[in-house]
Amino acid sequence: MAPSSVLAVGFVLALFSLSFSTASAGIVETSFHVKNLTVNRLCQNQVITAANGSLPGPTLRVKEGDTVVVHVFNKSPYNLTIHWHGVFQTLTPWADGPEMVTQCPIRPGGNYTYRFNLSGQVGTLWWHAHSQWLRATVYGALVIRPRDGQKYPFVKPYREDTIILGEWWNANPIDVENAALTTGAAPVNSDAYTINGWPGDLFNSCRPSKIYKLDVVPGKTYLLRIINAALNAQFFFKIANHNLTVVGADAAYTNPFPTDVVVIGPGQTTDVLLTANQSPGLYYMAAHPYASAAGVPFNANTTTAILAYPKAKQSTPLLPVLPAFNDTPTAFRFSSNLTALVTSPFWSPVPKTVDENMLVTIGLGISACGTNQTCGGIFGQRMSANMNNHSFVFPTRMSLLEAAFRNVSGGVYTTDFPDQPPLTFDYTNVNNSFNQSLLMTPKLTSLKKLKFNATVQVVLQNTALIGVENHPMHLHGFNFYVLAQGFGNYDPINHPKNFNLVNPQERNTLGVPVGGWAAIRFRANNPGVWFIHCHLDVHLPWGLATAFYVENGGTPESTLPPPPAGFPQC
Ligand code: C2O
Repeated sequence: MAPSSVLAVGFVLALFSLSFSTASAGIVETSFHVKNLTVNRLCQNQVITAANGSLPGPTLRVKEGDTVVVHVFNKSPYNLTIHWHGVFQTLTPWADGPEMVTQCPIRPGGNYTYRFNLSGQVGTLWWHAHSQWLRATVYGALVIRPRDGQKYPFVKPYREDTIILGEWWNANPIDVENAALTTGAAPVNSDAYTINGWPGDLFNSCRPSKIYKLDVVPGKTYLLRIINAALNAQFFFKIANHNLTVVGADAAYTNPFPTDVVVIGPGQTTDVLLTANQSPGLYYMAAHPYASAAGVPFNANTTTAILAYPKAKQSTPLLPVLPAFNDTPTAFRFSSNLTALVTSPFWSPVPKTVDENMLVTIGLGISACGTNQTCGGIFGQRMSANMNNHSFVFPTRMSLLEAAFRNVSGGVYTTDFPDQPPLTFDYTNVNNSFNQSLLMTPKLTSLKKLKFNATVQVVLQNTALIGVENHPMHLHGFNFYVLAQGFGNYDPINHPKNFNLVNPQERNTLGVPVGGWAAIRFRANNPGVWFIHCHLDVHLPWGLATAFYVENGGTPESTLPPPPAGFPQC
């Protein structure tokens, strides 16, 4: 790339630093107008669905403690909801957003106002559409800074920036999803990955100036807020010649963790400090997939952005060497070495007693094709995915939350999601991968009911059915503590001996090790219906999901209020 074209990207930077001003102290109010937008990527024009005419959508900037009010106007041709990924939504589950879980969609032409408070978390979260695959292009950052008078527990960065990793199809993602769901086969892979909306220099973009560029001042320290908004790709992320220090993940502070590579699954965020301490030059930031499922085709491209020092002499940025696509040891080292900063004002100690102890398998399977249909999945059936052999189906009549609130569960959901796998088998033994007696999975809408304030421990156990894979599991409404992770089958006698009950990382999304398990714990201190699911969008419509229905606690502060005015109806 010519230096002149590098210089020509300044306006792109300006576009992404657009933000909302705080209207009055404590309330951040804005509008999202979601509608068609024609953009050019990979040398072709594509009509996408976008918020406020930009890709990524607007960055929402708040201070801890603020109330957020977002008026969403759906001017798109699709049903729409917006999810505020990682926000606790204390007593506001009506604003959480997953379609048919907490709300019916906003119909084309309709609108809905999301109103919620952001307390008890500082760092980086994000927002995205939670209807079909719309989040491919309807997403943006949610930046939470300390409230006035409070500070970061690390050196004050000179500047902050947001790095959002995304995924791009030369097609309408909704059409890609629907085509796959019609035949029961796997959807086609994306055509590119993106950083702040742009594939970067390693793709033919026909517009060489369109690459994201971060200009740095030598010697200064920057806080980079890295978000993985891709649908189906986990990433290795590096910046050539630069070391990074992780200081937060999923809007929870971590102990400083030095690394040269960040491993980040869809739904996760990682805050890193970067010091511009290298010789003046141009350095690529680059990301390519961590592809944990052996033998499954994936898009192996690399997306890039540029870290630029002033007076750089060379015209070609230096490219970092990324780990191999299947470098599970590197992925595991990164994600199992993060620990919580227990001196954070937002830290609460791990509950030592457990009220609900669950072992939940997560993995793939098949479900019946349907009479008189032809299916493109394995064994001529539909590709399917499940938790404890229940493959989740979204209700159609009413959202789970509304049905729970109105006490009309009949015909909407059941509460028999099992605490243990219905069948015990050697979960991670690849000899079982195509055992048809284990693969067939019923389609169900079953929830797990929890008493208010119950402490819940869930061991997520990957299975080898169809194939082992690292699944980024996301829980709505809570952070969970990650007590331990490992490979193979979970051992309930020996593995708890190594649980970290002192300073485990807190997350809302965790990549459960491929062919392995993770033990997580949380306190169900928020009444509502909270989705838990794989954040790979290929697996969510296949059913890799369930929900926790947390009951009211018996005091006004622990009782679910009625839905707000204008709540969408089905
Ligand atoms: Cu980021 Cu249920 O979603």
